[in-house]
Amino acid sequence: MNNYHRFDCLIVGAGGAGLMAALESSKLAGTAVVTKLYPTRSHTGAAQGGIAAALSNLEEDSWENHAYDTIKGGDYLVDQTAAEILAKDAVECIYDLEHMGLPFDRTPAGKISQRRFGGHTKPNPEYDPSAAPGTPNARPRIPVMRACHSADRTGHMILQTLYQQCIKQGVTFFDEFHMVDLIMEDGECRGIIAIEIATGQLHTFHAKSVMLATGGYGRIFKVSSNAYALTGDGPALAYRHGLPLEDMEFYQFHPTGIYRLGILLSEACRGDGGVMINDKGERFMERYAPNLKDLASRDVCSRSIYQEVRAGRGVGGRDFVYLDIRADTINRYGTSPTGSKVDSRWVESRLPDIIEFARTYLGVDPIHEPVPIQPTAHYGMGGIPTDIWGRVLRNVQGDQVPGLYSAGESACVSVHGANRLGTNSLVDLVVYGRRAGRDMARHAHETPFQALPAKPETHSKELISRLLSQPVRFPWVKLRDEMQRVMMDDCGVYRTAETLERAQTTIARLKEQFLQVGVQDKGSVFNTGLLEVLELGNLLELAEATVAGAVARKESRGAHSREDFVDRNDEQFFSHTFASKDGENSAKVDYRPVDILWTEKDGQKVPKYPLEIRKY
Ligand code: FUM
Repeated sequence: MNNYHRFDCLIVGAGGAGLMAALESSKLAGTAVVTKLYPTRSHTGAAQGGIAAALSNLEEDSWENHAYDTIKGGDYLVDQTAAEILAKDAVECIYDLEHMGLPFDRTPAGKISQRRFGGHTKPNPEYDPSAAPGTPNARPRIPVMRACHSADRTGHMILQTLYQQCIKQGVTFFDEFHMVDLIMEDGECRGIIAIEIATGQLHTFHAKSVMLATGGYGRIFKVSSNAYALTGDGPALAYRHGLPLEDMEFYQFHPTGIYRLGILLSEACRGDGGVMINDKGERFMERYAPNLKDLASRDVCSRSIYQEVRAGRGVGGRDFVYLDIRADTINRYGTSPTGSKVDSRWVESRLPDIIEFARTYLGVDPIHEPVPIQPTAHYGMGGIPTDIWGRVLRNVQGDQVPGLYSAGESACVSVHGANRLGTNSLVDLVVYGRRAGRDMARHAHETPFQALPAKPETHSKELISRLLSQPVRFPWVKLRDEMQRVMMDDCGVYRTAETLERAQTTIARLKEQFLQVGVQDKGSVFNTGLLEVLELGNLLELAEATVAGAVARKESRGAHSREDFVDRNDEQFFSHTFASKDGENSAKVDYRPVDILWTEKDGQKVPKYPLEIRKY
């Protein structure tokens, strides 16, 4: 067979989860990474503000606080065993990264520096339930400095560090190879088919353990912080092969994207004392989250911006507000995390990249003026369902797909539930990437190579030749634009039955039309048109699954806000959705219970994390 490769462990995607898994599995088994980008261009590099771990370097903290915040932040849809593992293992993972050479910022005492981020808290030692509302002692919990950081380039540093280590350890890389199909046989995964972008040739990768670590799919929306490459290739292929996708209706909008462009301005801006301001100059988060204000969870902050805009308090009556990180503003509101006055040099040293982004893309200098921002599609809480070792689940009963793994944003181990806390994605990558890598190596040791089906590349060949030979009846760019607009307007921060029905009908029609798209460039060398069409096919699958979950979930929880069902409904919907294909252009939805932990109180078995109304 031409272009045939065989490895014990094969990882698709070279972001934080893929590289961490590769590092771990390659300690015990032959490992290769297939990636459509050069590894250090992976989107982990765009994560800015920090990675959470309860190190207690600047103030008292505990993994228990971190687990509690994660579960509450996810509006209780978080699987609790997974959340506790996340919070506990985070600490060890940070020290591992430090020992690998990751250049974290330092405290004056030389420890890893930490900053505040939304929803990360600790109990307020001064809390007094009888204190007057709005006074400091009325706050049951207060922000804590938990996010370890390298200025506002934390993801970039993680990516560089892990890639160096992988090279040192002899991991084989296939850079700029785009996965076109999974090789599934007898319910197992035995490899993948990928197209080599430089030549257009198809390659067959045969493996015992295959991991999908392809990142997010934020490109289903019009305004997004995600790079163009974020097209959910792993989840889309799993879904097309009949596997379910979990909790897809929960898509996070980060409150502070650059107006219209969506480029991320880190939450670290607010962690370090910045505030959001409306047209009247009001710090409007005081209205919506009187306790944590601008450090409330992202879903709450994004909805608050929409509320301000709807009430006519967007800047100039338009659809944006301001992010203000001027030193004078931080000093006026007393929001500096150091407790003392700051100056613009301090702000510039903490947030150099985001200041540069605003200067470059908006011509606005955040040191001297506030920056126009709007919520931007940022992170999918859902994805390929896995257990706590990254093993992919095939159904709501929890049966596994032998040989198939997933971690990072493409996966849903369900540590983020209905809304992820900032900085928890980087922890998820390293904690669950590492666990999955270990289990991949174990599986590879215990299992012989299974035979591949005859001509596993047939489907990929036919698909590509259809796209290259078909006349261009529907310009694919128009289909993509329409998908992104309908998802943004009708399945965005707010949804109703009516908007979702419109989104569902539109996506089904776009999928029909997609069958007739053709690619203008008929060449084989760096045919980026062909790649973008393959990616659009993947995005359409994920849009379909996202809308299906949103239609089924008739409640509001975390990032899923139904204006026709405004309350959380624990009676009916305290469960995960599993959306799977039901015919070509629709999906069916099943339910799986949330994993909850129990404890003993007064001789009674009670939930360890009791359901509460989520307030910040
Ligand atoms: O705001 C940020 O720096 C993004 C971090 C994250 O999504 O975790």
